[in-house]
Amino acid sequence: RQPTLLLGQTLSFTANPFEVPFEDAVSHETVGAVLIRDGQIAAVGQAETLRALNPTAKVIDYGKGLIMAGFVDAHVHYPQTAMIASWGKRLIDWLNSYTFPEEMRFASKTYAADIAGRYLDLTKAHGTTTVASYCTIHPVSVDALFEEAQKRGQRVVAGKTCMDRNAPEGLMDTAQTAYDQSKQLLQAWHGVDRISYAITPRFSPTSTPEQLDAMGALWAEHPDCLMQTHLSEQTDEIDWVLGMFPDARDYLDTYEKFGLLGERGLYGHAIHLTDRERARLKETGAGLVHCPTSNTFIGSGLFDMQGLMAEGHNVGLATDTGGGSSFSMLRTMAAAYEVGQLRHNPLHASQLLWLATQGSARSLHLDDKIGNLAAGMEADLVVLDLASTDAISQRSSRAEDLWESIFPTIMMGDDRAIRAVWINGKAA
Ligand code: GUN
Ligand code: FE
Repeated sequence: RQPTLLLGQTLSFTANPFEVPFEDAVSHETVGAVLIRDGQIAAVGQAETLRALNPTAKVIDYGKGLIMAGFVDAHVHYPQTAMIASWGKRLIDWLNSYTFPEEMRFASKTYAADIAGRYLDLTKAHGTTTVASYCTIHPVSVDALFEEAQKRGQRVVAGKTCMDRNAPEGLMDTAQTAYDQSKQLLQAWHGVDRISYAITPRFSPTSTPEQLDAMGALWAEHPDCLMQTHLSEQTDEIDWVLGMFPDARDYLDTYEKFGLLGERGLYGHAIHLTDRERARLKETGAGLVHCPTSNTFIGSGLFDMQGLMAEGHNVGLATDTGGGSSFSMLRTMAAAYEVGQLRHNPLHASQLLWLATQGSARSLHLDDKIGNLAAGMEADLVVLDLASTDAISQRSSRAEDLWESIFPTIMMGDDRAIRAVWINGKAA
């Protein structure tokens, strides 16, 4: 089939900019090109070279546009799309007042499909090509998201959210139905097209020990699946958990006891960690997901990026829609920068972009498929306009290097900065 050649600036990672100086972590072409064939990136290089080697390719010229891997949002709740930006509560009453009533509506497949489609279109408009999402307790909410992703050819990770206590009637399953329904969904969907199933106990406060145990058993039977949950988001939440699980050494232990700690575990927030928790998470290689707009919006706290990276943790970045206040990974990178500043750790633009692509893809164990602009990867791309508004172009026109030209877009860019998105080798 005829390949496509995208022309523009190109940005690829060759190493982790938290581990080596950023100059050694990035490959950049000012007049670059990306060759796409059969849904994959076939080559990345200089425009002149790739044009000469591929004279029959269809050429699309993005000029000064920056072509890079599409953004990977490692922790979202698509069912919270319609109640994002709800005012003024801390975590537990925010869940009770806004989140749970909205999640009840996903008993309807029609409603779930409508929101799922809108959600995927919204995130695509912001340059996001893969999400790892919670659904609701309703199996139809999972089918709806996977079906909408399938229609778009999109890679997605998701699972049925399991809760059997401390939630309203109508939003609870049991240990047994959570196990049975999760297993059925997993068997129906995991590995179909670009879909991965994630076993999803919401968090310890909404699962009985029996349900956590059932989730642990299911994970042990399907160790190639991810398991996603929340960990140590707010201090009052932690006190509540420790009261509920008097034998637990700490919050993480409420998962560990039930077989819910592992390399393919994804722990959202992970802000207020004890030394033991940090050591165990590091030992297992589990994924920690930083949700900076959510952590400031709900008033949860400041993630220790510098400390956790120095210890070698596996960290991804996420919006946490709708606890987070934005669908945009650009805004999320800006928030990660601001949180870093409050901890006296100004993250470099290369580190922010790495977290939003490679870091998140690695936390999802998908970094062999997505999250970088490199030959052999799936062709999920975003093309950024680095002069999308007057304010940004005025600033970036004075840029003296690549990073000065990109940083204003990270800090001030919105969906206008998204010039194009490619999903699975097709313009989306
Ligand atoms: N902890 C348990 N459920 C949720 C949720 O939906 N959002 C956030 N931010 N934290 C949670
Ligand atoms: Fe969350």
